[in-house]
Amino acid sequence: MTKTLFSRMRSLQWWVLIYMTFGVICDVPAQNASSHEWWKHAIIYEIYPRSFQDSNADGVGDLNGITQRMQYLQDLGVDAIWIAPMYPSPQVDFGYDISDYRNVDPQFGTIADFDRLVSEARKHRVAVIVDMVLNHTSDQHPWFVAAASARANPKHDWYVWSDGKRNANGDIVPPNNWQSVFGGSAWEWVPEVQQFYYHAYYKQQPDLNWRNPQVEKAMFDVMRFWLDRGVAGFRLDSISELFEDPRLRDAPRLEGLNALGNPQLDPGYTTNLPEIHETIRRMRAMVSAYPGDRVLIGEVYFPNIAELDKWYGGARHNEIQLPMDLPLGYLNELDANAFRKRLWEVYTQVHGSTPLLVFDNHDVNRSWDRYGDGVHNAAIAKLIAALLLTSRDTALLYQGQEIGQRTVEPRRIEDVKDPIGKIHWPVYKGRDGERTPMQWDSDDAQSGFSTSPHPWLPVPADYTTVNVRTELADPRSLLNWYKQLISLRRSNAAVRNGRVVMLDKTNANVLSYARVAKDGTAVLVALNMSAQPQSVSFHLSEANIRRSHLTNLMTSPEQDAGSSSVSPVRLAPFGVWIEAVE
Ligand code: GLC
Repeated sequence: MTKTLFSRMRSLQWWVLIYMTFGVICDVPAQNASSHEWWKHAIIYEIYPRSFQDSNADGVGDLNGITQRMQYLQDLGVDAIWIAPMYPSPQVDFGYDISDYRNVDPQFGTIADFDRLVSEARKHRVAVIVDMVLNHTSDQHPWFVAAASARANPKHDWYVWSDGKRNANGDIVPPNNWQSVFGGSAWEWVPEVQQFYYHAYYKQQPDLNWRNPQVEKAMFDVMRFWLDRGVAGFRLDSISELFEDPRLRDAPRLEGLNALGNPQLDPGYTTNLPEIHETIRRMRAMVSAYPGDRVLIGEVYFPNIAELDKWYGGARHNEIQLPMDLPLGYLNELDANAFRKRLWEVYTQVHGSTPLLVFDNHDVNRSWDRYGDGVHNAAIAKLIAALLLTSRDTALLYQGQEIGQRTVEPRRIEDVKDPIGKIHWPVYKGRDGERTPMQWDSDDAQSGFSTSPHPWLPVPADYTTVNVRTELADPRSLLNWYKQLISLRRSNAAVRNGRVVMLDKTNANVLSYARVAKDGTAVLVALNMSAQPQSVSFHLSEANIRRSHLTNLMTSPEQDAGSSSVSPVRLAPFGVWIEAVE
């Protein structure tokens, strides 16, 4: 592969192309955010706890490690952290296979450590969002152990079972052609009950049966358990996959093979079924009954913007506040026209809801490598940061993105930790590359991540220059660029909450837009998405911007700073220009 994780990503990219053939470029209204809707302007920072900070020298990051780094998070300016699963788990899928939803895995700490983390985070004005895996449990969860023990067990119907069917030889085979996202059949035989169970992911991750109301009740209770402990919300894992076609029909074949070499299938019988929305509406009502405007973030996959709008609840805004707009962050190509059209569509076709822009996470090669051209990666990383933080979208950052950590894949199969990397080696090397430890300093070979000489994944060799401490000391570093952008977003009314006006709308090389505050002040942003220098001219009166006093706010590369002119603006290859109009 493959720059993206799952086979479904390929179809996502195809969907993106379809969206991009439509769309009118004009002017979007400002968000109507009241102050309690904190998530509308938030900067949310994903922490992969195994790789953030180890506090007890076992080579694995932990909750106390996160607590120790709270000052860093506050200084960076994040509003919330999303912590990937830290619950007890056999760790087949590194925590996305949960065996107890109401505790903390001993390798990450204790529930008391979690409570302390939340309370320290509060002191640092950082909200804590936890990952919630509702689609499946671990096969070691007591519910599944009971379910797989006998058909008569009351928990049996909590999972998705089938008797299978007979093939031409009379053998019992799975009921249909559904495939696991991680490759191979999505059905696993259990001799004790003489049935197959369905698993969208590894066979150690059996899918729950959300058609059984007891499952919903049990999972909502789990969510209340964490809400009562003070979490600010949930990142809903694989939420598009909650329901499957009750008739278990074969998925229609699409052309070609997916990234893992399996046939490409239409996901319509296993993803995004309409039933999901009723469940999500009940979930939102339950979560919204808590004070403090708790938030639902969704890992959603959708075939078009109309389906994305449904995840918000359309005009009613009564489902997920922040479904991830993954197709935008996964365009994987710096194409000004594509970004302009796709941004515009989401600004105008989701009933004024707030998009959540995501370039990096623990499942996908880092944007440094996906967008980098091998020559200008540092400039491109600054451009991506500028887009992320000056757009109208809520911004999601993944640990290490702010210092330009690279994707560092294992060189030998025996070093691979992510099981899909072992299964599909060398076609796909798994997700270890984007999960390497956070690079904090250059004092020792573990870069401040751990005092163990054996971290669970090796610290990349570039830690001597790519690390928090070195970058903090360098005013031109990516980290300081992120900090300036975050502080601009926090302090400037136009960037924080202004309407969006697309400028120079036919320019194929430069994406330009204005954020315009209610009082008429504005911030202009120009992003050169090409490897050639570009000059752009803006006609601000056409954008209804009447002010004319210009002040340069930020420019990359730095030598361009000081050019306070809108006619023309000169941009270096992959250059960024941000100007205030007052
Ligand atoms: C989500 C997670 C991924 C995990 C999968 C199964 O896509 O982000 O890491 O493997 O769900 O839970």
